[in-house]
Amino acid sequence: MPPKLPIAVLISGSGTNLQALIDARTDPGFPCDIVAVVSDRPDIPGLARATRAGIPTTVIDWADHQDRASFTDAIIEVSERAGAAALVLAGFMRILAPQAIARFPNSILNTHPSLLPRFPGTRAIEEALEAGVTESGVTVHFVDELVDHGPIIAQRSVPVHDEDTVETLRQRIQGVEHRLYPEVVAAFGRGEITVDGLEVVWSTNEPVGPR
Ligand code: GAR
Repeated sequence: MPPKLPIAVLISGSGTNLQALIDARTDPGFPCDIVAVVSDRPDIPGLARATRAGIPTTVIDWADHQDRASFTDAIIEVSERAGAAALVLAGFMRILAPQAIARFPNSILNTHPSLLPRFPGTRAIEEALEAGVTESGVTVHFVDELVDHGPIIAQRSVPVHDEDTVETLRQRIQGVEHRLYPEVVAAFGRGEITVDGLEVVWSTNEPVGPR
């Protein structure tokens, strides 16, 4: 079997996407090894999930850092020390400084609960409801210097119903996200996804989701 791609997973909260990756890892063919889980906050449920799975955790507390650059440097250092070759953002609610993108070029992935470019930011689900859209979804993309921005790897849509609340729509979106994100991370780990300029290129005949 080819060597697994070492990844660091960055989290800020409940860690359900981290859990989906942890669960995917139980398949011996899953091509990534989660070598570190890094959180920007202490005492979040996602950290407990990592610990239960036997994955080393580090808290790089945003509150301990004077600026985004020093916070990002600390994340890079921890990830490098763990041997990570890619960063997988899973509900990570901070923006990394440009040196992270320079250090991990085309190797930082993010999942976001909307059909980007619509509704970037931390209120994607609320804003979709406020806008009255009939469809929203999930976007997995490579991270660039902007918020929830960068070459799109895969998108999946879900319907938005009139009676939806933030919670019901979140559940519908995350139900899709928890399947899509491990699939995309696995394809990335197998080297099936690369970036050419602003375009994502799949080497497989059956890419995951529309491009
Ligand atoms: C996820 O749905 C993810 O898409 C979203 O936060 C949630 C975190 O859930 N990320 C963003 O909004 C990024 N802008 P989780 O901690 O349970 O995985």
